[in-house]
Amino acid sequence: MLTETQVEPTLTPNADGPHDGEVIVTDDLWKTYVMGEQEVHALRGVNLRIRHNEYVAIMGPSGSGKSTFMNLIGCLDSPTQGRYWLNGHDVSQLDDDELARIRNKEIGFVFQTFNLLARATALHNVELPLIYNGTPAAERIERAKQVLESVGLGTRMEHKPNEMSGGQRQRVAIARALVNSPSIILADEPTGNLDSKTGDEIMALLDELHARGNTIVLVTHEPDIADFAHRIVTIRDGQIASDNESSRVR
Ligand SMILES: Nc1ncnc2c1ncn2[C@@H]1O[C@H](COP(=O)(O)OP(=O)(O)OP(=O)(O)O)[C@@H](O)[C@H]1O
Ligand SMILES: [Mg+2]
Repeated sequence: MLTETQVEPTLTPNADGPHDGEVIVTDDLWKTYVMGEQEVHALRGVNLRIRHNEYVAIMGPSGSGKSTFMNLIGCLDSPTQGRYWLNGHDVSQLDDDELARIRNKEIGFVFQTFNLLARATALHNVELPLIYNGTPAAERIERAKQVLESVGLGTRMEHKPNEMSGGQRQRVAIARALVNSPSIILADEPTGNLDSKTGDEIMALLDELHARGNTIVLVTHEPDIADFAHRIVTIRDGQIASDNESSRVR
């Protein structure tokens, strides 16, 4: 019971943390970058709940905070304030090493610029996350080959990035994101550097991953691409401005 002199604490919307089936939950998430004298509030209190096997597109103007948000939910960075639960665990206070371990296990990241090692073959690029977590060589090669085949690159394993098309490079990046069997795939403008036909092939691949049970969060500027998702969240000035079903499910 509160006595008259006690003030009830103001509760933030998601302070109660994750409910059953929710894999990404943020409560009042803030990210402030300090640039000399200036503070940039890239995120200003983001509250979001994403359930297992949802397919979510994040949209919003340039500079609105989309990549900042993806970096936080992908455990590439820590929030300035607020809480974040990934698969039921509060990860908002973890240090860089702990974040790296969780990221490697739970999350597959796909970037607009592919981020592949230029001098390494497709096979070696996909093997990398397994090298970092100490998987023995034979198993590593076996698994890397398997995922490369699953994204249709069985005949390109020995090719280096500059010996492949843009779509093939992005498929190598997706294979690398998948090799640890993460349950969550985060993609920041995965079709941004591709022509529309190749972009559609990548989106078909993401569809397939979604059908296999993965949770997918995708950042895009293009409404056509966002419509592949089932839910569209718009960010403006570091806050969620709208959150709706996409026309695909409406
Ligand atoms: N490392 C950083 N240091 C300082 N400010 C940053 C940093 N990263 C981003 N910002 C600022 O934070 C805000 C949000 O940036 P963010 O990259 O999240 O935007 P975005 O929505 O992904 O934009 P875009 O669509 O152009 O990729 C911007 O004003 C940006 O200038
Ligand atoms: Mg961005």
